[in-house]
Order: sequence, then structure tokens, then C-alpha cells
Amino acid sequence: MEAAAAPENIQVVLRVRPLSETERSRGDRKVVQLMEDGKSVQLKSSSKEDFGKSSGVKTFVFDSCVNEDADQASFYDKCGAWRLAQKALDGYSSTLFAYGQTGSGKTYSISGAEDVIIDDQYHGGDPREGLIPRTARQLWTELEGRRSERKYAVKAACFEIYNEQVLDLLNPEAGNLQIRESRAQGFYIENLLVVECQAASDLLEVFKEGTRNRHVGEHQLNRDSSRSHSALVIYVDSVRLDEDTGEEIRQYGKLTFVDLAGSERLKYSGSSGEMMKETGSINRSLFTLGKVIATLSRGETFVPYRDSKLTKLLMDSLGGSSSCVMVACCSPSGRFVEETLSTLQYASRAKSICNKPILQLDPSQRLIQQLRTEIQALRAENMQLRIQQGIPAGEKIMPSSMALLRLQEHEEAGREAGREAGREAGREAGRQREAPGSPSSPKPEETFSRSSSSLSVRGSNKLNGTGGGDPLYEKAVGYAEGYAAGLDQAREVLSR
Ligand SMILES: Nc1ncnc2c1ncn2[C@@H]1O[C@H](COP(=O)(O)OP(=O)(O)OP(=O)(O)O)[C@@H](O)[C@H]1O
Ligand SMILES: [Mg+2]
Repeated sequence: MEAAAAPENIQVVLRVRPLSETERSRGDRKVVQLMEDGKSVQLKSSSKEDFGKSSGVKTFVFDSCVNEDADQASFYDKCGAWRLAQKALDGYSSTLFAYGQTGSGKTYSISGAEDVIIDDQYHGGDPREGLIPRTARQLWTELEGRRSERKYAVKAACFEIYNEQVLDLLNPEAGNLQIRESRAQGFYIENLLVVECQAASDLLEVFKEGTRNRHVGEHQLNRDSSRSHSALVIYVDSVRLDEDTGEEIRQYGKLTFVDLAGSERLKYSGSSGEMMKETGSINRSLFTLGKVIATLSRGETFVPYRDSKLTKLLMDSLGGSSSCVMVACCSPSGRFVEETLSTLQYASRAKSICNKPILQLDPSQRLIQQLRTEIQALRAENMQLRIQQGIPAGEKIMPSSMALLRLQEHEEAGREAGREAGREAGREAGRQREAPGSPSSPKPEETFSRSSSSLSVRGSNKLNGTGGGDPLYEKAVGYAEGYAAGLDQAREVLSR
């Protein structure tokens, strides 16, 4: 079990909605064209001024691009929501958020057609439902199949950020909730109601209740415009027995869907009064989100997460320890070419943000996990060193054994050099005895025994012996003395 999965970039999926009735009746030109590779998109400006003087066409590449013909089921298949749900089941934290100008199809993608969702008769399974109910159903089916490996407990919560206030969509009377920060959890919402779900239908009820309580308003660009950023959080707690240790391993997977409010230009939306105040708040927090995305994409170390509630709560998803998918939504209409260009540029930057998903464990279990990983690494290193030094796997190594090893090598080299010097002296003495006029040369046995007995006096730099004056004998003694000195040095290392 690895506590940290491989780093991964935010996955970006572009969804282009069909022209609306109004856009069609006005005769708007389509300026967004998806390429055949399913990943590239071209934005063609209606006039050169939109992109500056150089070009009227801009190309962007994302992880996937979904065109206006795609129905909700095929968008679900292509957008990666199921991959995130699986990560939550495996104990990781994951987030899918939708971004785009007002009326671009964020809520339709994440939740589905609003009139369908809030209908009392809706119990799931409508073709116009969005990612949340589809993911919730599949997650539940998968979870039932995995129950033999782990016990699961699913809970859910729903909140919105409206005019910079955090409101509990399952408990609106609670008023403005506070965002707190802790070492273990990072930023979190204090006193948020979390509801236990025993079945997929419970999860669906939480989602419907949250959708009903969300702030929605009507303006010229969207009859059901979301006036807040809203989120549904599905907590997937699980426990299983570790095969090796028999311990209980508790994991805290989480899947969050965030439906952002859309950026909006007042001259097009015609918002006024209370809606204008909402628009200001929406645009401000989206501006901060843009700054966070831009700084992360440039690899800067200071990221202004703390500048808005939205970015505090998205901190873990943007450059943090969650897996993340961004759904960038846009209209194909030439009337919104500037907004679409801005969305595509944001999405492009988000694509380069790297997250480092981490298994969500108990803090104490996380520590045990880290220590186990460290022990494993040390064992591997130890094994490598044993192989290099030729020490058998089971043999105990004392702290000084490397020095001992070196001493033994010195000893053996010294012995061998002494033996060789003695043999050479013997051979030379033999030759000289055979040669006339050399009676004083030592006998080969004497020479050999002198040099080897010299070696047996280890620990002394001066070797005792007779035969001084004989150059060959001196040579042999010289060799042996050198090695004995080496031995002394090695012994000194040992005694430290
Ligand atoms: N892919 C689509 N296919 C068909 N209709 C769509 C699609 N996307 C969006 N729509 C319709 O377009 C309208 C606007 O969509 P939606 O409410 O999802 O926009 P939004 O991005 O959430 O806007 P806001 O930021 O104002 O909340 C809705 O009537 C919705 O049903
Ligand atoms: Mg919306």
C-alpha cells in the first residue's frame, strides 16, 4: 500500500454546448470548432481585433473535448468522473469542478437540467441528469461489489458560497459557517452537516435537497443562473484488515463536485440590484481563482489561496493532494468569443498544474505508514550494500564490521606479500648457493621462516629477525613491515 500515488496534472475536459434558442434565433455564428483528434479545439474570432493583430484562429489542446452533440451519458463516459469516484473508493481525495461564463452549461453538466432534478418525481435515471447522480449510482454499485474486501461508510454534505458567506445547503438555518484551518485537514467548514447514506437513493436525496436550496436567479443569459458556487461532498470512509499485520487500516476517500457560478458581463446579463451585488462577489472570487491558477501554472511558490473562501476550500484540489478534473464549459456563439477565449486560456493554465495525491489515512496510521515505507527503503539499501560487500543476507553486521572487513583484507594481503617475498628470497638464495663464492647466503627454509615469523609479530612496526645485511632478506622484511603498518592503521580504526 503506497501512501502517495504518482503526481498527476489536473485533467481538463472541454464541453461545448449547443447554440441556445436565443443564439440561434439571433443568427449567431459558431466560432468554436472541435478537431477530429477529440483533444484539440479552434476558436475563430469574428474579427481580428479579438485576438490581437496576428491571427483570427487560436488552437488549444486539452485532455478531451466534447462537442455539442454529446448527450449526458456520453459526456459522463468521457469526462473522467468515474476515475475520480474510483480514487475516492481507494481512499484518495478527488475533485471535479466546472468553470465557464454564465449560461455555458456548468450546472447542466454537473447536476443536469435543473427542472428535472428538483422535480419530486425524479428518483434518478433521467437522460438529462448530469454527472452527480450518474457517478453516485455507479459508485454505489462498485462499493457493494467491494464489500468483501472492505467495510464502507458513505456520508454526504452540501454547501454554497454565496456573497462570500458559506451556507449549509442541508441546513440553511445555520447561517454563515466559518472556515477553519487545521494541520490534519487544511481548510474545512466548521459545523457543516454531514449526512450518513445507507443507499444510493439517500445520496440522491442529499443532492436534490442541496439543489433545491441553492441560490438561483434569472437574468438575460440564463433563466436558472446559479448565484453561488456550490459543492456536493461525498465522503467514502472504509476499513480493512492489513494482510501482513492484521491491523485495521482506515481510509478516508472523498469526492467533491463543484459547480461554480459563471463569470458575467453586466451589459449582457442585465443584472441589477441584489443580482448586481451577487455578480460582483462572483466575479471577485473567480478573479482570485484565476490568480491562483495562474500562479500555480507559473510554478510560483506564493499562491494567494487565502484571498477568497472559494480558493481556500479548493486549495487541496489545486496543486494539493487531491486528484482533480476541470470541466471547462463554453457556448459556441461568436457573441461570446472573448469570454470563451478567457475560459480556454484559464483551462490551458489549469492543465499544467500538478497535484500529488495522497492516501487519506488516520494521522497515526499515516505515521506508521511513513515509517514502514522508510524501513522498506532502508532494507533495500542494506541489501544493496551487502551485495556490494559480499556479506550474506542473514549475517549480523556489527557497527565496526566494515573496518573489520578492511583489517582482514590487509592481513591477508600482508601475509601473501610476505610469503611471496620469502619465496623470492629463497629462490635467490638457492641461485646464489649454487653460484661459487657465496657461503653466507641464508638457506631458503631460514629465509622463509624468518619472514613468516616476522609476520606473526603483528602490531609492531619494526619486525624482529636475523639476517640483517642480506638485501633480499631486507626486501622481504620491507614488504612485510609495510603491510604490518597497514594492519596497525586498520586496528586503530577498529579501536575508535
Ligand atoms: N450540453 C447541453 N445540451 C443541452 N442544453 C444545455 C447544455 N448545456 C447547457 N444547456 C442549457 O443551457 C442553459 C444554461 O445552462 P446552465 O444553467 O447549465 O449554465 P451555467 O453555466 O450553469 O450558468 P450559470 O453560471 O449562470 O449558472 C440551460 O437551460 C441548460 O439546460
Ligand atoms: Mg449554473
